[in-house]
Amino acid sequence: MENTSIHILAIESSCDDTSAAVLRGNQRLSNVVATQKIHEAYGGVVPELASRAHQQNIVPVVDQALKQAGIDKSALHAIAFTRGPGLMGSLLVGTSFAKSLSLGLDIPLIEVNHMQGHVLAHFIKSPEEPKKAVPKFPFLALTISGGHTQIILVKDYFDMDVLGETLDDAVGEAFDKSAKILGFPYPGGPLIDKFAAEGNPHAFEFPIPKVGGLNFSFSGLKTSILYFIQKETAKNPNFIAAHKADICASIQYTIVEILMRKVKKAVTQTGVREIAIGGGVSANSGIRAALTTAGEKHGWTIHIPKFEYCTDNAAMIGIVGYLKYLNKDFTHQKVAAKARYIIDPSL
Ligand code: KG4
Ligand code: ZN
Repeated sequence: MENTSIHILAIESSCDDTSAAVLRGNQRLSNVVATQKIHEAYGGVVPELASRAHQQNIVPVVDQALKQAGIDKSALHAIAFTRGPGLMGSLLVGTSFAKSLSLGLDIPLIEVNHMQGHVLAHFIKSPEEPKKAVPKFPFLALTISGGHTQIILVKDYFDMDVLGETLDDAVGEAFDKSAKILGFPYPGGPLIDKFAAEGNPHAFEFPIPKVGGLNFSFSGLKTSILYFIQKETAKNPNFIAAHKADICASIQYTIVEILMRKVKKAVTQTGVREIAIGGGVSANSGIRAALTTAGEKHGWTIHIPKFEYCTDNAAMIGIVGYLKYLNKDFTHQKVAAKARYIIDPSL
């Protein structure tokens, strides 16, 4: 993928982050994210509030992305936006904005699948990491966040097979729902990670679900944690406070174990040893350590992107937009947001 002077403005609004980025070729010039704090009080994302917040944020976020990139909108070559998957009301805000801007500026419009963005985020070039290696095809992408859990075989930029995905909760939800049971504020994943550092991962045992193939399931884990906590706090009301680190370490160990067993299985099944992770849960120190250790042991190459490209962001939409621009893969003004939008046509 050569570098060019093509400028793409990208917009991401699929869930609760309003983001805009400007790329010059494959290089990120800016990547602005407005995270919606309003959902914290509700313990999860409230769709109606998310779309209203996107409406308030989108103009200032796009404006800042252009300012930080140091370019005028007249220098843009195309507008890329997240078409789906995501929350319909949220997607509508970014989609309508992108359509109007492309019409106003009379430049092409490019629709992007959010999941493809997570996978191809590894190809964004950052000025502060000019020599960072990119994954080689074919590679396995493990996309783990509050909304997704997938293992994808990536044969080329636009040739991907979903090998497995969650049948119920996403892995980030498993962290957040466990944290809620422990009384932590939303999103509790980072807190479990923090407290786990001081605890014994084998202090308590939680079951690893038996799910076929490369699919995942996390809802049973949440239930077993709930019953365990109810049982223990009935005996000792102070149980959570007294064993916080051990409980968190044991939960984290179980979740990481569930993920790692499937990654190992995917490597055996495909023979691919190049592994790239993405999504907000890639920040988790347990999964990072487990992948690094397994990589050293089995000779895998592990790719972990900068954290700003792991969580929902527009730069990842911009890199897909740039690749599509090179293919002249443009869309039209009649395009509609798509809440359910799979990347693997065979599914
Ligand atoms: O990608 P993301 O920002 O948003 C989407 O869900 O698309 O991911 C957010 C998720 C939340 O569930 C959050 O609890 C989880 O990522 N998360 C973590 C950590 N940092 C973020 N989970 C475990 N350990 C972490 N350090
Ligand atoms: Zn995402």
